[in-house]
Amino acid sequence: MAETIHVSVAWPYANGDLHVGHLAGAYLPADIFARFQRLKGNRVLMVSGSDSHGTPITVTAEQQGVSPREVFEKYHRRFLETQQRIGISYDLFTHTDTENHHRISQDFFLRLLERGALYLETQQLLYDEEAGRFLPDRMVEGTCYLCGYEQARGDQCDNCGHLLDAVKLINPRSKLTGNTPVVRETQHYFLDLPRFKDRLREYLRDKDYWRPNVINFARNMVEELRGRPITRDIDWGIPVPLEGWEGKCLYVWFEAVIGYFSASVEWARNTGQPEAWRDWWYNPRTRMYCFIGKDNIPFHTVIWQAELMGVSGIYSDDEDQPLTLPYDVPANEYMNVQGAQFSKSRNWAIWLPDILERYDPDAIRYYVASVLPETRDTDFTWEGFVARNNNELVAWWGNLVNRVLKFAYKHWDGAVPDPGEPGPADRALLEKVEGGFESVGALLDGVKLRAALGEAMSLAREVNVYLDGAPWFGVVKEDKQAAARTVYTALQAINYLKVLLAPFLPFSAQRLHEMLGFEGQLFGEQRIARYDEATRSHEALIYDGSKAIGRWEPERLPPGQRLQKPAPLFRKLDEKKVLEEELSRLGA
Ligand code: MF3
Ligand code: ZN
Repeated sequence: MAETIHVSVAWPYANGDLHVGHLAGAYLPADIFARFQRLKGNRVLMVSGSDSHGTPITVTAEQQGVSPREVFEKYHRRFLETQQRIGISYDLFTHTDTENHHRISQDFFLRLLERGALYLETQQLLYDEEAGRFLPDRMVEGTCYLCGYEQARGDQCDNCGHLLDAVKLINPRSKLTGNTPVVRETQHYFLDLPRFKDRLREYLRDKDYWRPNVINFARNMVEELRGRPITRDIDWGIPVPLEGWEGKCLYVWFEAVIGYFSASVEWARNTGQPEAWRDWWYNPRTRMYCFIGKDNIPFHTVIWQAELMGVSGIYSDDEDQPLTLPYDVPANEYMNVQGAQFSKSRNWAIWLPDILERYDPDAIRYYVASVLPETRDTDFTWEGFVARNNNELVAWWGNLVNRVLKFAYKHWDGAVPDPGEPGPADRALLEKVEGGFESVGALLDGVKLRAALGEAMSLAREVNVYLDGAPWFGVVKEDKQAAARTVYTALQAINYLKVLLAPFLPFSAQRLHEMLGFEGQLFGEQRIARYDEATRSHEALIYDGSKAIGRWEPERLPPGQRLQKPAPLFRKLDEKKVLEEELSRLGA
């Protein structure tokens, strides 16, 4: 039976371009997983959007001397283009400044308030006297009082990952003026996290299948729960929906996670089935996955769950109907660049819009997937990129496809040869590759994506080994039937591998699909849509899966099927040229 899968993908702050760290941390794994689940015939809803609020956006606006809205609109537009080009197949990639998201976030707030899950407290907060403003979250930096890291932000330390209390920072500095801030009093709403402690513990009890660092972090956090302020003294954001609260907004993290829910509602309405979001959010059988980077763990393993528990029954006739909670939170570690940590200010980064000008999306996807930081930090190196591209993608897979297709095309008049009766070696190979639907599928379903890719590629190598020992080009003149058997077997194996690799390499899989003489789309189509959605002239990335015919099963290649004239799927790269070009851009 078809399963219902929600793929929640972290919402990028719309204050700068996307880089390989984003891709490796969340978007590529989410996309590989979602494509696999779609091929399985499951009902998948994958959503995300631009995180348009919060101090990251206002700090950038301040630095560039423009409004926060200009910053977010500019990068939102670029996110849509970049992600379409690299093939991240969101059913909907929207943003947090829609009317819909504002309303739903305010409804969450009011419902929590009504149920007594929020309380009011007077806080001592940092205030910049020269700027005349409070300094929430990233508006202030200082030394982490837990680990001593000197560039900790007011909300969180990038070194130890802990959420911080800004007034406790050692040596705080205002991001607005560089001044040392003073402490002032202000009132805020707090989410009463301790009241969810028992339920959160219970929720985490059976999550031993989570990645160890994720479940450990979550369980520790639940044991030390404190209330957290969810409003801020800022004017760029979603207004607190209460009289007398002008000039205060909802905390960006409080509302951004709600985006997973609100985007599902928006998607449902846009596809003409306004109630369809309930199949994901009010369905106890939904498997919901949050694809995030490790700095997002506290918000996706504890705080989001508490919010969902607190608003149970929202938009339902049953006051207490539980909302779906994440089934897994496969958080990734970081991907460094040439041995050093990503740094925007030093331009130590590999920007996606930039590299997409020079490299094919599947080449980028292949390399990043093969070094995904699933269990520890990994490193993007250009040497590695070229090596994996040339020695694996091209040598094991691209050349295999090209050699066999060209040979078949030439000797059997542009059609798939008729194999006659297969021999034991032919059968053995096909059985092995067919086994990939089980083995690669199980790894993908368990979100072990790197291992899944490794397994699929090792099957591609099996085909190469088989071809080394089988009769084909040497015998095509004297024993055409033997050659036909070998070439057919290899083509059939390639046709299986096409599907096994499709979640990783969707663009080239589609081209191969057509070269093998099949019609139709393995996956759906993605487009940038402009629509109103009672919003501020809204643009979004939309996936239409209605014409997708790809299936996660061994489909037989019909003998006699017309092939298309083969062309190479991938390009071999010149290591010297790539290194010269790319290393000079890095840090420049
Ligand atoms: N904008 C955050 C970041 O880039 C991620 C937000 S994920 C969300 O770290 F779900 F909360 F939106
Ligand atoms: Zn720290």
